Amino acid sequence: MATVVLVGVQWGDEGKGKVTDFLAQRADLVVRYQGGNNAGHTVVVNGEEFKLHLIPSGILYPDKLCLIGNGVVIDPAVMINELEGLVRRGIAVDNLRISPRAHLIFPYHCRIDQCEEECRGTGKIGTTCRGIGPAYMDKAARLGIRVADLIEPEEFSTRLAYTLKEKNKLLANVYYRDLFDFKEIEAAYKKYAVALRKYVADVSLIVNQAIEQGKHILFEGAQGTLLDLDHGTYPYVTSSHPIAAAACLGAGVGPKKIDWVTGVAKAYITRVGEGPFPTELTDETGEHLRNRGHEYGTTTGRPRRCGWFDTVVARYAARINGLDYLAITKLDVLSGLENIKLCVAYQHKGEIVKEFPPTLHELSNCKPLYEEFPGWREEISHVRKNGDLPGNARRYLERLAELTGVPIALIGVGPGREEIMVNNPIF
Ligand code: IMP
Repeated sequence: MATVVLVGVQWGDEGKGKVTDFLAQRADLVVRYQGGNNAGHTVVVNGEEFKLHLIPSGILYPDKLCLIGNGVVIDPAVMINELEGLVRRGIAVDNLRISPRAHLIFPYHCRIDQCEEECRGTGKIGTTCRGIGPAYMDKAARLGIRVADLIEPEEFSTRLAYTLKEKNKLLANVYYRDLFDFKEIEAAYKKYAVALRKYVADVSLIVNQAIEQGKHILFEGAQGTLLDLDHGTYPYVTSSHPIAAAACLGAGVGPKKIDWVTGVAKAYITRVGEGPFPTELTDETGEHLRNRGHEYGTTTGRPRRCGWFDTVVARYAARINGLDYLAITKLDVLSGLENIKLCVAYQHKGEIVKEFPPTLHELSNCKPLYEEFPGWREEISHVRKNGDLPGNARRYLERLAELTGVPIALIGVGPGREEIMVNNPIF
């Protein structure tokens, strides 16, 4: 039996979908525990690309139970669309289970998300405008409406009537926007209830029973450590907890039940949205990484900001998540570069900074200090053994692991399911 939590080490988009897909081969259950359809996980199977936003990537295997925990916020329209899309492509979705304790996203959340971004002006966060922040705000304010309410028609209508009154007041009086019609939302969500009811089950109970039975369980994180509401680059963060501890909270399992934590990081680093980014490259090397790495958002299509791998960030993620292993993705994207740099520390007001700073002010004024490595010209997508990697690629990875203090278990060398090097299969 093993329970493994998979988390993003950087600002999201680390290639967790691909690593989940690899680990899911041996897992019995794949569980999502936070975030919503702000996430976008791309998995390529036999040359066919699947982009998933809400449904765990484990769904692409017919025999895995895929669960959505209480910590996730669900936009039911998006979920139904995603389910229908999978069914159209011949993927069975009967193995999906949704926690009744998960909160729902409503159209007013998306509109409020947009209004808040507009009001922030130049201080905008660069959210995905999928209503994630406003949905988590309602959860904390005890105004949220949960999957459990969706499938109880009377409860649903009562809660919606109350919440919508509050939201319409806000939209009319603060943002001067059109109001939402109760009947319209009620009718749409009653249809969603019919479509989703069959998937609703006590996720915490299922996961804990599976642990008792000695099954392999993979907890699939979305976003990344630096987007964590508490530990990320606040306020340029998401409104959930992408870190490993959230797997317990967002799936309903005790911390002692987690065996291993694996952090996924790109061989370089990217960020979408606003906020400081010490190793950002705004030159042609950044352009090279964006073009070769197809660094455009899966959810919003926005170009991602690209930079050198930052071991200050990786060490911080190792500490916050208690990482046992690293999975490094997209090593192939670095092929063809003359030189490659690793950020080993920052310089701030003449001091060397080795720990990730807690304030944005300090982080914004940090200059990266680099070690430079000769690059390699060879394409590496066919490589499956460490010994077959170009020497320069091997030396780069060895130093990266040494500076981060975490061994590398998996290395992604291409987008395909089989394009992965396995030092340690984890499960
Ligand atoms: P929100 O999650 O839509 O509220 O966006 C808050 C911040 O998190 C913004 O900077 C987004 O670009 C970022 N973000 C949210 N989800 C993802 C993701 O899956 N990958 C990368 N960045 C994300």
